[in-house]
Amino acid sequence: MVKENTAAVSGNVVWHHATVTRARREAQNGHRGAILWFTGLSGAGKSTLAHEVEEHLHQMGCRTFVLDGDNVRHGLCGDLGFSAEDRVENIRRIGEIAKLFMEAGVIVLTAFISPFRADRDKVRAMVHPGEFVEIYCRCPIEVCEQRDAKGLYKKARAGEIVQFTGISSPYEAPGEPELMVDTSMHSLDECVRQVVAILYSGTRPILSRAQK
Ligand code: ADX
Repeated sequence: MVKENTAAVSGNVVWHHATVTRARREAQNGHRGAILWFTGLSGAGKSTLAHEVEEHLHQMGCRTFVLDGDNVRHGLCGDLGFSAEDRVENIRRIGEIAKLFMEAGVIVLTAFISPFRADRDKVRAMVHPGEFVEIYCRCPIEVCEQRDAKGLYKKARAGEIVQFTGISSPYEAPGEPELMVDTSMHSLDECVRQVVAILYSGTRPILSRAQK
């Protein structure tokens, strides 16, 4: 069941219904709005894959937007750190923003570690079945650590960063993601192909065959 929006603190707030509806936006775009939720360890390739999928979809004429952990943490979530509570709040905000983008008819791609299963499931519960597509970027921590593109694993091992995911803070892998891509085994192109392929599947596909 989809959780309805509730005005938590503010009273006397009435929902305004737009005449330009989601259905009209989607008809204009030629595809459905959706949330492609990439989750995985730091260095697993979430951002790289999300941006590459976006590039592919953009070239097909789709409306897309990537919400990226490292970028969002400079602005919207600039007040949050990496404690468990802050990560929960981070994902709550991202979920709400992603939903807005989706309602605007956009295919929004989110690239956050989002380490807690319950938080990802909360976002899933905020939208209709099929609209939240969980993509687990699986990659052994040894490989992430070897890549260490940002030098953060080295710092975490040295104790210079505390509560680092996979080392001193947990990561809960998805039980039943819509898709698992193994970024240590497959090329970027192959992972993109796998992600795009599932957008044509299901009872209400996000992309229609005509868009191929
Ligand atoms: S999340 O856990 O709340 O989902 P998010 O995806 O926004 O995390 O941010 C993760 C990024 O922040 C990492 O890719 C990394 O660059 C950086 N980072 C800095 N400190 C940490 C930390 N303690 N744990 C994980 N990532 C960290």
